[in-house]
Amino acid sequence: MREGTAPLIQRLDYQQPAFWIRKVDLTFDLDPAKTLVTSKMQVERNRAVPHGPLRLHGEELNLLRVLIDGSSVSFRQEGQELVIESAPDADFALEIRNTTCPDKNTALSGLYTSGGSFFTQCEAEGFRRITYFLDRPDVMAVYTVTLRADKAKYPILLANGNLQDSGTLDNGRHFAVWHDPFPKPSYLFAVVAGDLVAREQRVRTRAGKDHLLQVFVRRGDLEKTEHAMNSLIASMVWDEARFGLPLDLERFMVVGVSDFNMGAMENKGLNIFNTSALLASPATATDVDFARIESIVAHEYFHNWTGNRVTCRDWFQLSLKEGLTVFRDQEFSMDMAGTPSARAVCRIQDVRQLRAMQFPEDSGAMAHPVRPDSYSEINNFYTATVYEKGAEVVRMYQTLVGRQGFEAGMKLYFERHDGQAVTCDDFAAAIADANPGSVLATHLDAFKRWYAQAGTPRVTAHGEHDSAARTFTLRLSQTTPATPGQATKLPQVVPIVMGLLDRHGHALALNAAGDTEQVLVLDQAEQTFVFENIDSEPVPSLLRGFSAPVVLDDGLSDAGLLVLMRHDSDPFNRWEAGQRLALNRILHALRDGQPLVLSNAFIDAMRGVLNHPDLDPAFKELALTLPGEAYIAEQLHVVDPQAIHAAVVAAQQQLASALRADWAAAFEAHQVKGGYTPDPVSSGKRALANLALSMLVLDAQATGDTVWPGKAYQRFKDASNMTDRLGALAALVNAGAELATPALERFHALFKDDALVIDKWFALQARAPEANGRVFARVKALAKHADFTLKNPNRARSLLASLCMFNPAAFHRADAAGYVFWAEQVLAIDAINPQLASRVARAMDRWAVLAEPYRSAAREAIARVAAKPDLSSDVREIVERALA
Ligand code: PHE
Ligand code: ZN
Repeated sequence: MREGTAPLIQRLDYQQPAFWIRKVDLTFDLDPAKTLVTSKMQVERNRAVPHGPLRLHGEELNLLRVLIDGSSVSFRQEGQELVIESAPDADFALEIRNTTCPDKNTALSGLYTSGGSFFTQCEAEGFRRITYFLDRPDVMAVYTVTLRADKAKYPILLANGNLQDSGTLDNGRHFAVWHDPFPKPSYLFAVVAGDLVAREQRVRTRAGKDHLLQVFVRRGDLEKTEHAMNSLIASMVWDEARFGLPLDLERFMVVGVSDFNMGAMENKGLNIFNTSALLASPATATDVDFARIESIVAHEYFHNWTGNRVTCRDWFQLSLKEGLTVFRDQEFSMDMAGTPSARAVCRIQDVRQLRAMQFPEDSGAMAHPVRPDSYSEINNFYTATVYEKGAEVVRMYQTLVGRQGFEAGMKLYFERHDGQAVTCDDFAAAIADANPGSVLATHLDAFKRWYAQAGTPRVTAHGEHDSAARTFTLRLSQTTPATPGQATKLPQVVPIVMGLLDRHGHALALNAAGDTEQVLVLDQAEQTFVFENIDSEPVPSLLRGFSAPVVLDDGLSDAGLLVLMRHDSDPFNRWEAGQRLALNRILHALRDGQPLVLSNAFIDAMRGVLNHPDLDPAFKELALTLPGEAYIAEQLHVVDPQAIHAAVVAAQQQLASALRADWAAAFEAHQVKGGYTPDPVSSGKRALANLALSMLVLDAQATGDTVWPGKAYQRFKDASNMTDRLGALAALVNAGAELATPALERFHALFKDDALVIDKWFALQARAPEANGRVFARVKALAKHADFTLKNPNRARSLLASLCMFNPAAFHRADAAGYVFWAEQVLAIDAINPQLASRVARAMDRWAVLAEPYRSAAREAIARVAAKPDLSSDVREIVERALA
């Protein structure tokens, strides 16, 4: 949409549509230059709302004709709407013909071509770029789709549901007819046509039903689909076992496409995936890729119930399906991981992601509630808040009502709402009603503030031990900072899972029953909890498992943190204690403006983790990785990205040098023998070996040693899987070793024909630690590389998001060159793909907390973008919110 300032759409303005569309018969005559779409709809007036005209959405369409009950009818076009004043009162048939141009559709929303095949993307409002429609999620229809296309070029013709008919036509064309029996909103519609091949698998569910699973990809990619197929089968098994939710279709199809704005899309029975979220082989994908694919395949599959069978009434309710489905895919990944320690590793990774992406969002220009109140472009609200904070909100329901209570709530939710388009309130009511008398049910209105209030609550804890009375009094208080449009906040309902440890790390009984863990529910601004029979000053372990998405200030001393790090029974809090110790060091150095020096106690604690006989390698890798620069920035009121970077580099160097012998031993001890499998145990070992190697090469750079860089180069060359190969390459690149240059050349030559691997090649260079402007200069040169293009979202992100969002020290430059580059790229991408442009634009969300000279220069760059008259509504909303 290209207009001046786009209007704000308000949640409270929701009204039912004036008409319902019950059935749609769509015919596509597919042609890349001009596709003819014929839509025959069965329409009826909605008598629950005042009588009005029929207004259909349509964007960038060529309208050919409009018929009602077979006769032409008068209509007018008003902006992006087709208005029919004289629609009948009785049910009627509406027929519309229009054309679209898939080849020119670089926005990748609606019907487009990629690699010579046709694909659609309709969420959130892409269907209106295919044909005129009531393109809103509360209008649900049964679709029958006929596809006609050249048989040689497009042998595969797919749409939602079941194949009803197919055959040949004249002129080398053929056709297929698909019918989806489930009424669905237009955003779940999809078609695919092209020269694709499929991996197929027949499965029988517990209930004894047979299904055909298919994964469609381009010729040559078939070997890379095994992991996705396995993940799909595992997801089916899990959803039936955990929530009693079976697959409801005879056929379930998954398709890969190289040009895609997001990770994947849950179209009914025809999920479409970014190839980066689908394709994996040991030689081309890392352990992290394998895990990400498993969770995205699961996520899309889980949407079939949470999103498709029960969908959203309006887009403000987006977290109804996204928060819930992220929660479900997180639970799935944890259950797949197996052991308590492997589950904790999953949880730590999810929390790290939340803190790196959602916390900054919640304290920046784009801060918004999990259920936003207004938007101008819905595409801008597919955010970490709606997804990841939304998932934390769902997790809190489970914490408050228990696992069984939550499952009962889900059951009630489907009993009540299957086939409907509903709201977050409906979900909350189902969970609460299934658990009468629970804390959730008695605090439901207050709990729902999690949907309404933006900003990350700050919880402060203060403990006092009374040795005479043998009591420990824990005073908890909370505040939520102001966010744009929300000056004051009410207290939230914060479940705090906790325990108490004595000085030696033994768990203390919290009550007469002898429980050592308990859930405190903080629902006031300030509350006091008293524990009896506590003989000596305990160390509180609060917010175990990160039981609420808050910032906790527990006032613990380093001594207390060390106790938790060594002894807490909760692995999340053990990890957290180590992170806090590191963070404290870094923050002290930043506040004092002094060079960072790690204490011996800290180094010894880290050595203790690295050499620990019982801890899992995956956990060790997480514990020995320092807090990220974005998370450190979140702790500060004034952010100097260069100072943060310098402190982190210093800490890393000291850790590398002080533990030199331990790293070397760890590297040797964690070599994985035998064939590659991406299971949690072997990937944990590879992760720790890679961290050790990167520390050893980093240390070698400082001492002038050439042995470890040589070893890294050898390992890079000989590696039998991408995790080891990329790990060794990263060790060289991140340390700025001389051997990085030949290694990068060799890597490119080896993988020049594999786009997803070349994306890694760009990203690795753009994310390398900045030193004297070399990384920034390299990124500018790479932007002119023959393999670089802004048209492919994966490639554009691999370079630009890597620099602007994930490499603060390379991006925030005193000479403002990073911001100038950002502005140029945002404007260039905006002319091609507004959704992609607005994602890159968000790199500036937190400009207001930057120190000078960054702050003024950043503001100027944003203002320059905002001054462009023909910005997309996507980018306009981002830059205007930034400047507001
Ligand atoms: N609904 C998709 C998901 O979460 C994400 C998506 C949104 C994809 C918009 C494309 C466009 O799985
Ligand atoms: Zn989703």
